[in-house]
Amino acid sequence: MKNPVMVASGTFGYGPEYAELVDLSQLGALVVKGIAWEPTRGNENPRTAETASGLLNAIGLPNPGAEGFVREYMPFLRQHDVPVIVNIWGRTVEEYVRVAEYFEGIEGVAALEVNVSCPNIKEGSAVFGTDLDLFRRVLDAVRSATALTLIPKLAPNVAAIADFAKAAEASGADALSLINSVPALAVDVETRRPKLANVTGGLTGPAIHPLAVKLVWDAARAVRIPVIGIGGIATPEDALEFLIVGAHAVAVGTASFTEPRTAVRVVEGIDDYLQRHNMASVQALVGTFQCN
Ligand SMILES: Cc1cc2nc3c(=O)[nH]c(=O)nc-3n(C[C@H](O)[C@H](O)[C@H](O)COP(=O)(O)O)c2cc1C
Repeated sequence: MKNPVMVASGTFGYGPEYAELVDLSQLGALVVKGIAWEPTRGNENPRTAETASGLLNAIGLPNPGAEGFVREYMPFLRQHDVPVIVNIWGRTVEEYVRVAEYFEGIEGVAALEVNVSCPNIKEGSAVFGTDLDLFRRVLDAVRSATALTLIPKLAPNVAAIADFAKAAEASGADALSLINSVPALAVDVETRRPKLANVTGGLTGPAIHPLAVKLVWDAARAVRIPVIGIGGIATPEDALEFLIVGAHAVAVGTASFTEPRTAVRVVEGIDDYLQRHNMASVQALVGTFQCN
C-alpha cells in the first residue's frame, strides 16, 4: 500500500462507480462490496435511512457472485494501480471456503477481507462474527483454503472484542479490520413502522466513530498483527485517532457517499499532520496514544 487509507467495503461499489470522481491510484487499497459464491439480489427497498450523524442500512449483500464479479469487474480493476481487496461472505462455512479457494487463483486480488457479520443458516440464527466458536471455525476453514492475505472483519456487538481479535490471530489471520456496522433500528412514528424493509439494519457514519475508536484500541492491544480502523471517518483527524490508538491503516466508508474524495483528503491530511509533527512515516505515529 502506498498510503494507509483504504475505502471500505460496500461504500465504493466495485471501483468503476467512483472512477470518474476519484483517481483510484491515490487510494491505499480498494475493498470491493461483499462477494459470495452465488449471485444474490439483496433486500427490498427501502434499504437505507438517514439518522442523526449516521446512516442505517440493510442492503442485504446483493452481488454478482464470485465468477460474475471477476468477469465484470476484474478487467477494469487490473488496469488501475491500486491493491484490490475482495470482501467475501457466505451463509455456511462451506460457502466461505468455496469463494476463498476460488479467489486464490485470480490475478490482481491482493487480499481477502472476510465479512463474518452474516447469519449462519446451518447453525440456526447464530452469526459468525458474534459467536466465538463459529468465528474460529470459519476462519480456520478459510485459512486452510487459501494462501492469500486474510483480513477478518470484526463485528462491534460482542462482549469482548479482544477475544475475537486473538482468535483471528490464532487462526492465522494476517491483519484485522474493524468495525463493521452496528445493529440498529429506526422507527417512522407516523406509520409506527420500521424505516427499513428489513426492519433492522446496520448503523454507520460519524455516529459510530468514538465507539469504533474504543474497539480498535482494545483490539490493537490484544494482537501483534496489524489492525485496520474503520468507522465514521469523515476527516483526517478521525483517521489519525485510529492510528494513534494502534491501527496501522484505516478505511473510509459512509463519508464517500457525500464526498467521494474523502479518502484522498484523509491521505493529504495525514501527510500534513506527519510533517507538522516531524514524523518520517505513519509507523512513527501508530500506537503513540498517551493515556496515563
Ligand atoms: C451501504 C453500506 C454497505 C456495506 N456493505 C458492506 C459489505 O458488503 N461488506 C462489509 O464487510 N461491510 C459492508 N459495509 C460496512 C462498511 O464497510 C464499514 O465497515 C462501515 O460502514 C463502518 O464505516 P463507516 O462508518 O466509515 O461507514 C457497508 C456499509 C454501508 C454503509
